[in-house]
Amino acid sequence: MTTDRQETPAALAEHTQEDKGAGTATDAQAPRPLLEIEDLRVDFHGRRGITHAVRGLSLSMGREKIGIVGESGSGKSVTGRSILRLIRPPGVVRARRMVFDGIDLLSADERTMRAIRGDRIAMIMQDPKFSLNPVMRVGDQIAEAFRVHRRVSRREAKERALEMLKAVRIRDPERVYHAWPHELSGGMGQRVMIAMMLIPEPDLLIADEPTSALDVTVAMQVLAIMDDLVSSRGMGLMFISHDLDLVASFCDRVIIMYAGRVMEVIEAKRLHEAQHPYTRGLLASLPRIDEPREWLQTLKRDPAWLEEA
Ligand SMILES: Nc1ncnc2c1ncn2[C@@H]1O[C@H](COP(=O)(O)OP(=O)(O)OP(=O)(O)O)[C@@H](O)[C@H]1O
Ligand SMILES: [Mg+2]
Repeated sequence: MTTDRQETPAALAEHTQEDKGAGTATDAQAPRPLLEIEDLRVDFHGRRGITHAVRGLSLSMGREKIGIVGESGSGKSVTGRSILRLIRPPGVVRARRMVFDGIDLLSADERTMRAIRGDRIAMIMQDPKFSLNPVMRVGDQIAEAFRVHRRVSRREAKERALEMLKAVRIRDPERVYHAWPHELSGGMGQRVMIAMMLIPEPDLLIADEPTSALDVTVAMQVLAIMDDLVSSRGMGLMFISHDLDLVASFCDRVIIMYAGRVMEVIEAKRLHEAQHPYTRGLLASLPRIDEPREWLQTLKRDPAWLEEA
């Protein structure tokens, strides 16, 4: 595999270690987590007061698939953007600790952050259209990503971009290559973004509702591509979604968020046995074909969940 990334011997050792399954006899210490967040708080100061978007979120993840679920406004996207330091004033981000692969994200300078963004940590934004350059043809943007991250020739970049479009199941790659971003449907835009974000083979991919505009079959194919990268390259995936069933079947662990806080962290395969009343409420409010209900339950919320632990 060719990559222009400068990996420290420690980081490389960690890859190999994880590939074999942690805990070989030569390990001096357990592999450090890929991402550690302690007590993340994000406030937005507005004219009508302060919105506490994230209120004391802590998590630690390795090269695994972590799902983040929670109703609209619970702080999922803001959490993802905070990791990449993409929150702008009037937003204020504070945390006791935020470390990615040994790099302190709170104190890193802008130059370090630019090197991390898109290369070591990539994020598929919830609305992909805002992330594409509107005055550059789609294919040229993907090819440029190859040229920047993989240092390949112009011709090779074009070939690889077309391959990438095929990999995310775009039926007519030549046509999409020459399209402008505004000519793409929502689902196509989402696939183009996924393709672009996977090119640098990031260590951590934050995918914010990456498949919400896709048909079930295409969504499954795109998930399979991400799954493959997680297992073959040891990528960590933070998968933000509204779809509890999807997260339960696709992820390793699930974080349930409510009003900017973590309500519960649970093994994905045990999600449907969750005991926390908020998680139970989320599960009960899912419409089911196999078990028709006369009405959908509304979510019950307990003010005590907002209190500081
Ligand atoms: N730039 C901003 N300025 C002010 N408030 C913001 C800003 N961005 C987010 N917020 C607020 O932060 C809170 C959390 O927003 P966030 O986008 O993280 O929710 P979410 O969990 O991703 O929701 P959804 O499922 O709808 O995408 C919301 O109350 C939102 O209004
Ligand atoms: Mg969101």
